[in-house]
Amino acid sequence: MDRGELQEILDRNRPFAKLGNTADYIPELAYADPDQIGLTIASPDGKITSVGDCETPFTLQSISKVINLLVAVLDNGPDQVFSKVGMESSGEPFNSVSELESKPENRPLNPLINAGAIAVSSMIHGNNVEEQYERVCQFISGIIGRDNLEYDEKVFQSEILTGDRNRSLAYFMKSTGVIDTNVEKALELYFRLCSIKVTCSDLAKIGLFLSTGGRSQGQVVHKNLPRAVKISLSIMLTAGMYNESGETLLRSGIPAKSGVSGGILAAPPHEMGIGIIGPAINGKGNSVAGLKILEDISSKYRLHIFDK
Ligand code: DON
Repeated sequence: MDRGELQEILDRNRPFAKLGNTADYIPELAYADPDQIGLTIASPDGKITSVGDCETPFTLQSISKVINLLVAVLDNGPDQVFSKVGMESSGEPFNSVSELESKPENRPLNPLINAGAIAVSSMIHGNNVEEQYERVCQFISGIIGRDNLEYDEKVFQSEILTGDRNRSLAYFMKSTGVIDTNVEKALELYFRLCSIKVTCSDLAKIGLFLSTGGRSQGQVVHKNLPRAVKISLSIMLTAGMYNESGETLLRSGIPAKSGVSGGILAAPPHEMGIGIIGPAINGKGNSVAGLKILEDISSKYRLHIFDK
């Protein structure tokens, strides 16, 4: 991967950050630097190429939903997971209450909107939140090759204090049987997983893992991983950017997942892993500059799935 080319893509799209704002509905996220822009590519030969500010960590936020889905599918099998959560994309915001109420059996439309992710988190195996959290961290550590993962306590507390919309989604799902465990524990796990601190290079490594069908250093570490990865990539493609997923599919054509911290994880099949950070987000919760960078990378390296 040519560093100069990546730097050029980054610099060209830097001004788009001015069109977005840091998330403020989670107060602690509002303190992020809106001008931070970073990009990392992880290549199949193991090479990591970073440009921009890739050192400053940020929280996974909704990108954690991809990992939660993988672990829950490995733990329960896809049939059990998708008996509680749907597979369709959504035209509503990621935290929509009305959508949840209006759908058949009140099942969340997919595992990547908040309701779906909270329900999926509740299905992760473990005797308590600590054990569930540790299992997800071990899964991530195995992919990114470092075991010092931690969550951002301030962001976590900020979500606990202000996450009443998520709480309403979760209690509603409890009332309809989608969640059949302790609601507060399910929320605590979900908030903790959203608050895990990562860098662009961590995201790029997770992207590479997904793009190669769940291989770590060339090995499939769990026999059911290829199927779980295929499920996750499919839903990332159709729903990873919420109510901007259709446009992202047209423009970039790469399975990707955003977080309100401004991170984007992208996994062009069989090609590479991509990690992007740009905390200035648009009204749909996606990094403004990040989406532009993704589009440019897709076009430069012909990564759109229908360019093949
Ligand atoms: O639950 C929330 O609202 C946040 N912790 C995560 C939402 C999010 O990242 C949406 N993404 N773009």
